[in-house]
Amino acid sequence: MAGGMSDNVILVGFMGAGKSSVGRLLARRLGRCFVETDDMITAKEGRPIPEIFTAKGEPHFRALEDEAVRLLALKRGDVIATGGGLPCQDGRVEALQALGTVVWLSGDLAALLERARRTGDRPMLDGKTREEIEALYKSREPYYAKADLSVDTTRLNPDQVAAEVWKALQARARPPQPRPPHPTASR
Ligand code: S3P
Repeated sequence: MAGGMSDNVILVGFMGAGKSSVGRLLARRLGRCFVETDDMITAKEGRPIPEIFTAKGEPHFRALEDEAVRLLALKRGDVIATGGGLPCQDGRVEALQALGTVVWLSGDLAALLERARRTGDRPMLDGKTREEIEALYKSREPYYAKADLSVDTTRLNPDQVAAEVWKALQARARPPQPRPPHPTASR
């Protein structure tokens, strides 16, 4: 598989993109281990993410993400799902690319938010207006767009997204070979 030295597959994208469910399915399909940066953080802190935000605030959570990224350097051949804000700082996507192939699970914002509402508590969305969420999304999109591959998840279920990611990874691992010259074209 193409990518950084450590051959991991790293999923990035906004909240509701399906990084956790797709990551789990993809890991199964590839026969790899599945890791989530949010799980690394909750395990270290001993409490769920919303509580970390309430008790210690966003800057503390971002510092925990920095530490999680440092620990990812130990991973080899894993499928890694990142929190929605983790890649959104200068140099971060490049740091992830050094660990493997970065895949953006993209989608229409409305579809992402609909999923995010159904799956879990997200402090970054709590109490925000639609305009504020759109602004957050717009500020993050340029970072996600640096990924090596992207799959539009808007109309797909997690199984279908995992299959699309798998296909894109295969295509990247085996780039099309140049065609041999046609016999009649040789002199
Ligand atoms: C966050 C996204 C969450 C989690 C935390 C902050 C964000 O992960 O890391 O609540 O800043 O977008 P998901 O993207 O899995 O929801």
